[in-house]
Amino acid sequence: MTTLRLRPEGLADTAAIRQLVADAFATPDHRVPAEVGLVEALRDSDAWLPELSMVAEGDGELVGYALLSRVTVEPGAIPALVLGPVAVPPERQRRGYGQDVVRAALDAATELGERLVVVLGNPAYYRRFGFEPAARFGLTSPWSGLGDPWQVLLLPSVDGSPGRVPGGEVVFPAPWSRV
Ligand SMILES: CC(C)(COP(=O)(O)OP(=O)(O)OC[C@H]1O[C@@H](n2cnc3c(N)ncnc32)[C@H](O)[C@@H]1OP(=O)(O)O)[C@@H](O)C(=O)NCCC(=O)NCCS
Repeated sequence: MTTLRLRPEGLADTAAIRQLVADAFATPDHRVPAEVGLVEALRDSDAWLPELSMVAEGDGELVGYALLSRVTVEPGAIPALVLGPVAVPPERQRRGYGQDVVRAALDAATELGERLVVVLGNPAYYRRFGFEPAARFGLTSPWSGLGDPWQVLLLPSVDGSPGRVPGGEVVFPAPWSRV
């Protein structure tokens, strides 16, 4: 592959994203993975932030996908983002595309002035981006009981202000009840 292009999804990408997510999360029973429906339900919801649905494209083909969408921390309705799904087709995995597309999404969020990102996933993968167990900060969610996979990242500020991870409960919009 010559060059990797990292960019927000466009109108023409919907079907290819669906296929990519289905392939990455495929299970032996051949059911459509829940993550496919999650992306589509989020795209139709108020939580969707079009600039933060990021694809990696190489030679005209999508080789990576990372989604950041809106959640809030209560009390106070503090805006935050949730990362996921992150997907790379099986035949393209372990070539750095996942890291590239996640970093592109996090960089785009930073430029938009976002500060807080949560994720539920393998700490061995997500710690490379700076994610830490959210329990350390008193930040809870319906998935807190899973322990270290429930993680948080404080993004750098564009104006140099320090910022901090707030304690509280992260509230997820309805599409997340699918997963
Ligand atoms: C997880 C995923 C997005 C990673 O993308 P990728 O392009 O294969 O990964 P990269 O090439 O960027 O990174 C490779 C590194 O990640 C590690 N890694 C890859 N998948 C991992 C996983 N599921 N858990 C832990 N580590 C993982 C590799 O061991 C490698 O580590 P190293 O850099 O220390 O050698 C991809 O494997 C995937 O789509 N998996 C199926 C769907 C999924 O589980 N998504 C994440 C949950 S939302």
